[in-house]
Amino acid sequence: MSLIEQAAKRLEQLRQAGVELPEESVSTPVISKASPQKNEATPSQAPESARRPPIKETPPEPGPSRPASISPQIVLDLEAISASGLLTPNADRSRLADEFRVVKRPLIANAMGRGTTPVPNGNLIMVTSALPGEGKSFSAINLAISIAMELDNTVMLVDADVARPSVLNMLGLPPAKGLLDVLEANSVDISGVLMRTNIEKLSILPSGTPHPRATELLASETMIALLDDMASRYNDRIIVFDSPPLLLTTEARVLASHMGQVVVVVNAENTSQAAVKQALATIESCPLKMMLLNQVRSSQADTYGYGYGYGYGYGHEK
Ligand SMILES: Nc1ncnc2c1ncn2[C@@H]1O[C@H](COP(=O)(O)OP(=O)(O)O)[C@@H](O)[C@H]1O
Ligand SMILES: [Mg+2]
Repeated sequence: MSLIEQAAKRLEQLRQAGVELPEESVSTPVISKASPQKNEATPSQAPESARRPPIKETPPEPGPSRPASISPQIVLDLEAISASGLLTPNADRSRLADEFRVVKRPLIANAMGRGTTPVPNGNLIMVTSALPGEGKSFSAINLAISIAMELDNTVMLVDADVARPSVLNMLGLPPAKGLLDVLEANSVDISGVLMRTNIEKLSILPSGTPHPRATELLASETMIALLDDMASRYNDRIIVFDSPPLLLTTEARVLASHMGQVVVVVNAENTSQAAVKQALATIESCPLKMMLLNQVRSSQADTYGYGYGYGYGYGHEK
């Protein structure tokens, strides 16, 4: 069965189970299961810390054109990131890159006000799912890198899954200050903890110093005010939020209600229909939702090396 057929079938099952999928105009792209490349230098049995690529920090370039407060540049080890199965800008044309090209198009159009209707705070894009382990972080990182590869778009990737942060670790970076520090102390400004990276158009806002009331901080008035501030202060940027799951706690729904666009990752094999249904019900009021079917396996795709497919299945002709 092709990926398109698999996706269409899965969506049909969900619909028959009474899951109200987002409007028919919204396509449901598919992300296939990416396999990490074998790399002698990074054996899978090595401890996490040993697998981390080395970090280099370069000081901001001197010169009158740069404001003094600009954050240091973090050098991402793009080879190691690519070997771990994530997308990188210099990777050859790959299935993953092609799939994320499809995912990002409508999101960018809405963020830039080029969609059919204007979207308030359209540049705030939340990536969430029903439960942990469905590929939120994987999708958020790939989406951010994919958008950063565009000529016109600058991206900020925010690790807002404050209870289970993983963005820095997945990118081979050590813990750093970030969102929680900004929320906790009025004296810390985003610009002070934002990391510029060697992917020129990508900056990262880590989740920050662990805090016993992290989830309360995430759903606080301060966070909501911060979101509005970010949407306007960085209105030339697309801000991608890796977020907590919708069904375990309530902060994700609070966040979702302040986002311009919400991407709901559905694990093609493991997410139950009931979970998808419940998760969508929690974000009923969000105007723009996109479902992303993740970890679709395709034997065909493996055979041909590419052979990806897109699930325009719901309400659309292929
Ligand atoms: N499409 C995919 N291909 C390969 N690995 C994936 C894919 N989606 C998720 N993973 C892996 O599955 C694990 C769980 O995904 P993650 O993004 O951390 O989930 P979540 O953030 O929803 O808890 C991670 O190790 C991630 O790299
Ligand atoms: Mg995660």
